[in-house]
Amino acid sequence: MITTSTPHIDPKGVDIAETILLPGDPLRAKFIAETYFDDIRCFNEVRNMLGFTGTYRGRPVSVMGTGMGIPSISLYSYELIHHFGVKNLIRVGTCGAMQENMELYDVVIAQGASTDSNYLDQFNLPGHWAALSSYRLLEQAKRIADERGQRTHVGNILSSDVFYGADPDALSTWMRMGILAVEMESAGLFANAAAAGVDALAIFTVSDQIVTSAQTTPEERQTAFTAMIEIALELA
Ligand code: HPA
Repeated sequence: MITTSTPHIDPKGVDIAETILLPGDPLRAKFIAETYFDDIRCFNEVRNMLGFTGTYRGRPVSVMGTGMGIPSISLYSYELIHHFGVKNLIRVGTCGAMQENMELYDVVIAQGASTDSNYLDQFNLPGHWAALSSYRLLEQAKRIADERGQRTHVGNILSSDVFYGADPDALSTWMRMGILAVEMESAGLFANAAAAGVDALAIFTVSDQIVTSAQTTPEERQTAFTAMIEIALELA
């Protein structure tokens, strides 16, 4: 099952750990590795989608960029699971908050990911499958966040194919169904993980408040990111 390389990942002999953090931005993957890992080795440079393996508090862990959108995270997560034996895939990213009680920098942990994408159609299910995260990882992440005194929201998010939407009412329809936040990847990740019998989770920092139109600055995003990363690393 372990392959030496795939069309998008060429580790050149460097191991990929069973637990991987998956930010969208490859430079954020580099930042996470350089800030938190010991014994860092780069395992991917194909298309500049940087991936690194190291240790965190003595435990092996990897981090790799996924790019934006369900097609991109789905192909990388598929290869990580099916060709490199990855078992715990933890997306870390930013999201737009869709409920009024949410503030910038709050942490969102996805229990499920609804979607407007057609990605799930390929599984040919005779109905609508609920894309859920791993309860084992979810329960651990929530406990770690609570121990740190971190404000969190746990629930259903929206993985949308659309960033600049043509329909101004689309998001409010999702809001009425209790969707906490919007991002663009998790439903594809959760589907790939479920189909392969491995564990996936997604943890976010609120970078935009869609109800109140509040937004973080690029500098603020960098620092706000750390609470979420540290929760994810504790899962390794
Ligand atoms: N939409 C989609 N993805 C996002 C957003 C958003 O408003 N904010 C952060 N990621």
